[in-house]
Amino acid sequence: MIDFRSDTVTKPTKSMLAAMHAAPVGDDVFGEDPTVNELEKYSAGLFGMEAGLFCPSGTMTNQIAIRCHTKPGDEVICDALSHVYLYEGGGIAANSGVSVQLLPGHFGRITAEQVAGAINNPDDVHRPLSRLVSLENTANRGGGTCYNFNDFQAIKAVCSTNNLSLHLDGARLFNAIVAKKESPADYGTVFDSISVCLSKGLGAPVGSVLLGSQSFIQKARRIRKVFGGGMRQAGYIAAGALYAIQHHVTRLEQDHAHAARLVQALQQKDFVGMIPPVETNIILFEVKGRFTPKSLVATLASKGILTIAMSPTQVRIVTHLDITEEMVQQTIREIESL
Ligand SMILES: Cc1ncc(COP(=O)(O)O)c(C=O)c1O
Repeated sequence: MIDFRSDTVTKPTKSMLAAMHAAPVGDDVFGEDPTVNELEKYSAGLFGMEAGLFCPSGTMTNQIAIRCHTKPGDEVICDALSHVYLYEGGGIAANSGVSVQLLPGHFGRITAEQVAGAINNPDDVHRPLSRLVSLENTANRGGGTCYNFNDFQAIKAVCSTNNLSLHLDGARLFNAIVAKKESPADYGTVFDSISVCLSKGLGAPVGSVLLGSQSFIQKARRIRKVFGGGMRQAGYIAAGALYAIQHHVTRLEQDHAHAARLVQALQQKDFVGMIPPVETNIILFEVKGRFTPKSLVATLASKGILTIAMSPTQVRIVTHLDITEEMVQQTIREIESL
């Protein structure tokens, strides 16, 4: 099977497994796991942040961040397609008692003007207190699209003026950094907190890190415990995450090149409609005419190619570490034959 459903399906490489096997470990709830400590320090340093917190999932890092930045009754501002809103099981309400103001973005990205227009008047007792802006880079449901860095700076300026915190869901942040040739350290100058997943394009089996100031991470550590995310000898999985962040970043270019070739083949087909600009490893395309998303997914599956229907009109293809050049060529041949 050629599995394009998600970049979360990757298996650890031999070298990654060797690093995991050799990892020195300790009890991380006591702060004594040297590998977890190294991962937290390394990733915080990379992004110009003071501290990091290793968590089992990107959902947990996002939800802890939202809980840390808000109080019950506050409001989070985000794009209507945000993962934090659409795909975290209503966690914003359940975990933090916070409401959400959804903005209609452009392929998953919102602007400083939209944010400014969405902030409630803090003197109006009828309205929730706007407290946090949450952005996503790359934007998954936007088709893996990337923000321009100056858009972040403009949004940060609005947040600073209005006393709002700024969080980044960076589940695929390294894809954006590689595609836009950015420096990770610049992100620390703009965001109050960043969630970075190691288990997506980077290919680690488990884990995300939450980054922020010392005091923010201290608070986050307490909330991680409350959410049941305090792990013991977590160094074994942190070693996979550390290996991923140290060895699998620049190769993301290959995934982007594979996606660019696949999209060219798709664009030739009459059953393919609108496709958001393919900037990274995600192709989210509309299906029309001869196929529905369901029938296209089934037809491709019968040829050994797994894709996923993301909505009643869209199918998603995601390239990743376990997709080889030969797999891309075979998929292009199959697409051409449809
Ligand atoms: C944009 C985005 N944020 C957060 C997550 C959550 O990550 P996890 O599956 O590790 O909880 C995902 C998962 O695919 C994602 O795509």
